[in-house]
Amino acid sequence: METTPLDTPAPLKFASPFLDETTIAAAADVLRSGHITSGPWVERFEAALSAHCGGRPVRALTSATAAIEVALQLAVVGPGDEVITCAQSFFTVLNMIVKVGATPVFVDCEPVTRNIDLGQVEAKIGPRTRAIIPTHWPGSLADLDALYALARRHNLRVIEDAALVIGSRYRGRPVGAIGDLVTLSFHPNKNITSIEGGAIVCNGDVEAKRIETLRFHGIERRPDGTRDVAFPGGKFNLPDVNARIGLAQLERLPGFLAVRRSLVERYFARFATDPGCELPPRPADGDGQSWNMFCVLLPLDRLTITRKEFRDALAARGIMTGVSYEALHLSTLGRRFGYREGDLPETERIASATVTLPLHAAMTTADIDRVCAACAEVIARHRKDGR
Ligand SMILES: Cc1ncc(COP(=O)(O)O)c(C=O)c1O
Repeated sequence: METTPLDTPAPLKFASPFLDETTIAAAADVLRSGHITSGPWVERFEAALSAHCGGRPVRALTSATAAIEVALQLAVVGPGDEVITCAQSFFTVLNMIVKVGATPVFVDCEPVTRNIDLGQVEAKIGPRTRAIIPTHWPGSLADLDALYALARRHNLRVIEDAALVIGSRYRGRPVGAIGDLVTLSFHPNKNITSIEGGAIVCNGDVEAKRIETLRFHGIERRPDGTRDVAFPGGKFNLPDVNARIGLAQLERLPGFLAVRRSLVERYFARFATDPGCELPPRPADGDGQSWNMFCVLLPLDRLTITRKEFRDALAARGIMTGVSYEALHLSTLGRRFGYREGDLPETERIASATVTLPLHAAMTTADIDRVCAACAEVIARHRKDGR
């Protein structure tokens, strides 16, 4: 067993929000204002998000999970329908497809980018297919031209899970500026946070109004001033306190992204010479991609330790790591739809060896050096060949 070195510096989280005093004071002002749930700050946050997303309408919700559920309802996906998605993503995608009563149809991911392998989608499209949900990965977005050409050919809705990539650009345009429905997350681990929160970028005022109904009980107003419900809507409205924080964070997004990019450059530089891990794609247009996570694949076949032991060894050095992501089709819920080991080899290879290294806007290049030195040391100590 590894022992904890006595001179271990402060623990390094693998993700962390960056909230400045001005933002905290702004949130306190909303708390003091007497109007703390959805109101004017939500409208301002939505307007700012819309401006960021090239002018398309945006509606805020309490999480990206809520956003995906509401987007599925907006797309009228329900019992008897199928939704094609990639198994290398977060549980939310699987959960929400099942929650609305539809069947998830998994395809594999691309080996390096981890994005949905669009080459596998067409063969899975059948008479019950209604939508495709790709999750965009940091460092490289899914090929939107190919995705939408496919969706148009088969008359399918697309819900882009952009939880990890606010601030990324596709052919020079921000995520959300083009496409169908695009969902965002403002969880504390994401590029910007509203504590909890999410949003849907949609196609026009009719859809925006429908989202407003779906996120708030399904309530519609009758001309006589009374209310009606024709659909069991949820309760997913974002409070103003959260929206105020989100708005302040959005203003800082360019700065956060710049820090994250420079930290990732350091990771690439250090991993070029240090341990033999498989790295994410290094974008040619470095400035066009946002980096929410830096996930590497461990060379487990050349090590005498498991991923758990590797992560424990890093934790003993004060370095926290994550696993992004487990293979969705091999979760207990995924297996209920008949999936088994070997069905999606790239997803399974990645899920078994991936480790999420620390990356957030409060880190320094010295922190990256510390992580890389620890990775190199642990890997060197546990190589099968001893070298
Ligand atoms: C890829 C991806 N999609 C969706 C979500 C759900 O986000 P939220 O926590 O805002 O519901 C997450 C959360 O980590 C995620 O990683």
